[in-house]
Amino acid sequence: MARKYEELAQELEALISAGTLRPGERLPSVRETVASRGVSPSTVFEAYYLLERRGAVEARPRSGYFVAQRVADAAAEPRLMEPASGLRDVAVNDMVLEVLGSVRHRDVVPLGSAFPSPDLFPLDRLARGMSAAMRRLDPREVLENLSPGSEELRRQIALRYVATGTLASAEEIIVTSGAMEALNLCLQAVTQPGDLVAVEAPAFYGCLQALERLQLKAVEVATHPRLGVQVDALRAVLERHPVKACWFMPNFQNPTGALMPPDQKKALVELVTRHRVPLVEDDVYGELYFGVRRPVPAKSFDREGWVMHCGSFSKNLAPGYRIGWASAGRFAPLVERLKLTSTLSVAVPSQAAVLHFLQHGAFDKHLRQLRSTLARQQEQCVRLATRHLPAGTRVTRPEGGYFLWAELPPDIDALQLHRLALSQNISLAPGQLFSTDGRFRHHVRLNYGHPRPDQLEPALRTLGRLAARLATAR
Ligand SMILES: Cc1ncc(COP(=O)(O)O)c(C=O)c1O
Repeated sequence: MARKYEELAQELEALISAGTLRPGERLPSVRETVASRGVSPSTVFEAYYLLERRGAVEARPRSGYFVAQRVADAAAEPRLMEPASGLRDVAVNDMVLEVLGSVRHRDVVPLGSAFPSPDLFPLDRLARGMSAAMRRLDPREVLENLSPGSEELRRQIALRYVATGTLASAEEIIVTSGAMEALNLCLQAVTQPGDLVAVEAPAFYGCLQALERLQLKAVEVATHPRLGVQVDALRAVLERHPVKACWFMPNFQNPTGALMPPDQKKALVELVTRHRVPLVEDDVYGELYFGVRRPVPAKSFDREGWVMHCGSFSKNLAPGYRIGWASAGRFAPLVERLKLTSTLSVAVPSQAAVLHFLQHGAFDKHLRQLRSTLARQQEQCVRLATRHLPAGTRVTRPEGGYFLWAELPPDIDALQLHRLALSQNISLAPGQLFSTDGRFRHHVRLNYGHPRPDQLEPALRTLGRLAARLATAR
C-alpha cells in the first residue's frame, strides 16, 4: 500500500508532467494543501520533501516550494526505430566482450556499466547475516538447498509476488545463479537449435548472447523507448513466423528504461497464450520504481502458465551473491531438471545470506532508500546529459531503474565514441550492443547508478566534446 504522502507526491508529479504545474510555479502552500486535501501537515511536508529529493521541486527560503526548472524537459525522447523485418543470426559476443572488458577498471567512470554502484547496497549487513546463518546451519540443509533451492527462500520470493497480485507459488520457483541463469535455462527449456525467438529492438545484449549460445535465430519486434514492446507488431510477427519463444522486459527495459502500460502487458499475455508461445519475462529492475507502487509483471496476467518470470537480487540487494530465480509456470519441472543436470544448485551461503536479510534485514526500507537515490541521480544525469551532449540529442526519462538511453545526432558512431571515451577513462554502452544489425549505432546507454556527482559532470562534458568532434569529422 502506498503511503499518503507518496500518493500526494505522485499526484503532484503527474500535474508537473502534464504541464499543469509549470517550471518556476509555486506549489500550493502547506496550509492550502492541508485544507484542500484533508491531510495532515506532516503528510504534505513529507510529500514535498520527497519531490525535492527527486529534483521535481525546489524550496526557496521564506517563499515556499516551486516546480524545478528542469533543463531536461527540453530534450525530446528517442524515436521508435522500426526493426528490419526477417530472421537474423545473432553474433554480438565479440563486441559485447570487448566493451564489457573495458568497463571493469576502477579508474574508469562507469557510465557503460550494467551494475549500480556497490556502495548503494547493505553489504556489511549481508555479510553479517551470512555468517550468522552459516554458523547455525543444520548440515541437512545443504541437501535441502539443492535445486529448486531453499524452501524458505522460495516462499519469501513467492510472498513478494503476492504484493503485485501475481499468482506464483513456491513450487514453481527455481533458485538460480542470478537472473542470467534463470533466463538462459527458461529459453533452453522451450527451444531447439535453429528455432526462432522474438526479441525487443533494442534488446538487452545478454538476451542476444543467450540466443547466440543456443544457436537460435532472432526476429526483432518494434519497441517504443517509453512504452516498450509493441503488441500489434508482435501480433504481426507471430502470424507470419513460427516463433518458439519471446524474451521481453516489460518493466524498465534494458537499455531504454521503457515501462509497458498494464493494459499492454495484459494484451501481450493474452496474445502469447492464444498462440501458445512461452514468454520469458526478464524483470530484474521491477523493484527499482520511482512511482508509488511496483509495476506489475506481465506474469500477473498469466492464467495458463505460459509466462516464465525471471527475477534477481543482484540489482536491488546483493550484487555478487548471484541469487536469482525463475517462476517458470507450466515449464517449472523442465527448468528445475535443467538446473539440476547443469549446475546442481546455487551456493548455500549465498542463499542463506539473502534469506537472512529478507527475514531480518528490512528489505523494503533499504529499497526505499535505493529508489530515492536512483531517482535523484537520474534527475541529475538527465540535466547534465541535456546540457553537455550535442544539440539534437534525445534522452529517455525512465520511471525506474538506472539507465538512460540517448539518441545522438545520426552522424555520431557510438562504438567510435566509446573507444574515444575510454581513452579518457570514461565508459559507455554503445547502441551496437543492443541489436543484431547496426540500427542503434548512434545511440548510447548511460548508467546513472553511481553516486559520484563530482565525476559525472566532467565525464558528460568530455563525452559531449568527443561526440561533437566525431560529428564534425564526418
Ligand atoms: C536486463 C538484465 N537482465 C538480466 C541481468 C542479469 O542479472 P543477474 O546479475 O541477476 O544474473 C542483467 C544484468 O546486467 C540485466 O541488465
